[in-house]
Amino acid sequence: MSTRLLVTGGAGFIGSNFVHRWCELYPDDHVVVLDALTYAGNIANLASFVGQENFRFVQGNICDRELVDKLLEEENINIVAHFAAESHVDRSIMGPGAFVQTNVVGTFTLLEAFRQHWEANSKNGDFRFLHVSTDEVYGSLGTDDPAFSETTPYAPNSPYSASKAGSDHLVRAYYHTYGMPTIITNCSNNYGPYHFPEKLIPLMCINTLIGKALPVYGDGKNVRDWLYVGDHCSALDVVIHRGLPGETYNIGGNNEVKNIHLVEMLCELMDELAPDLPVRPAKKLITFVKDRPGHDRRYAIDATKIKTQLGWTPSIKVEQGLRLTVEWYLNHRDWWEVLLSEEYKAYYRENYR
Ligand code: NAD
Ligand code: DAU
Repeated sequence: MSTRLLVTGGAGFIGSNFVHRWCELYPDDHVVVLDALTYAGNIANLASFVGQENFRFVQGNICDRELVDKLLEEENINIVAHFAAESHVDRSIMGPGAFVQTNVVGTFTLLEAFRQHWEANSKNGDFRFLHVSTDEVYGSLGTDDPAFSETTPYAPNSPYSASKAGSDHLVRAYYHTYGMPTIITNCSNNYGPYHFPEKLIPLMCINTLIGKALPVYGDGKNVRDWLYVGDHCSALDVVIHRGLPGETYNIGGNNEVKNIHLVEMLCELMDELAPDLPVRPAKKLITFVKDRPGHDRRYAIDATKIKTQLGWTPSIKVEQGLRLTVEWYLNHRDWWEVLLSEEYKAYYRENYR
């Protein structure tokens, strides 16, 4: 059976990178993107596919059961890759309601629709429901704690991570209760092309280019384990093709970096690669600001399981990935300039007030 893939959230950062990769590698597969185009969704990310045979974009909400039922049936979907989510921790602190709605209720809606569709197709063995989740569900690590493994107990600390944890539990329950072929992945921080400007790395790149302060939360010593988005997408490909239903796979870059060090690396790359910086050296723009409430200190992923069981390892080191990313933001000014909208500016004022 050829793959007929429904990608939720395919106009967002990781979802659109995933669609690019999938359509290039598997041109005979049929890809349907369902995306509500919230502030984080951008149809420009998929511009090269719109109108192509084997590709369909549908603007709609994953909470809309009727729409999801219709798409699964009329497109004869056998694989769902579920990226759609409210994904920004800072926004979840300002307004958690949307996170519960999309991440929990939306995932539940998809699960119910997929269950009905899978049962109507005699529980076809080629069906899969891939739930793309985060390492944040495991909580926060101390400096010397071992990295998160698949058996680390859940301890989410923000409304965002709590809502993702809730969705993970539902996905897990659908495998155990109904035997539905679900798989969960928990990944560390991604970066790369098409990353919405309010997340750390694009925000630092763009603020450097426009000569604005680079706001570092707290003491800047929080640690994240950075993974180039292309590596995340290759891991998801492996999981879809070879992962086992009912399993969870952790995905990480083995690239732990303190925030302040990461920002300094970005500044140095900007000094080297950007000809007309308004402020030089870019480091002069670094400004320590009030910490994020409940800010998790450290994340780190133990990706041994996906390496030993499925043969996946990341291919891009953080120095190389950051260079690629800075070059992308330098070469795609027209992509990000339009995203610095009034809504973005209002969010910015509120968050960094
Ligand atoms: P993003 O915010 O860039 O994109 C989310 C997409 O989902 C957007 O296109 C948005 O329009 C869409 N969307 C939001 N609500 C929707 C709804 N109700 N119905 C339909 N579409 C909706 O997010 P991202 O960074 O690409 O993350 C994608 C997934 O990966 C999320 O589930 C996130 O939890 C997970 N994840 C992200 C990271 C990371 O570092 N960004 C790391 C690990 C896991
Ligand atoms: O770990 C995976 C998660 O990574 C994903 O599940 C989330 O969807 C994704 O947004 C990301 O969450 P973070 O909160 O780690 O990412 P963010 O880019 O918001 O922040 C990264 C770090 O940088 C974090 O320690 C907070 C800090 N930070 C962030 C911003 C926006 C700053 O110091 N200043 C800032 O202005």
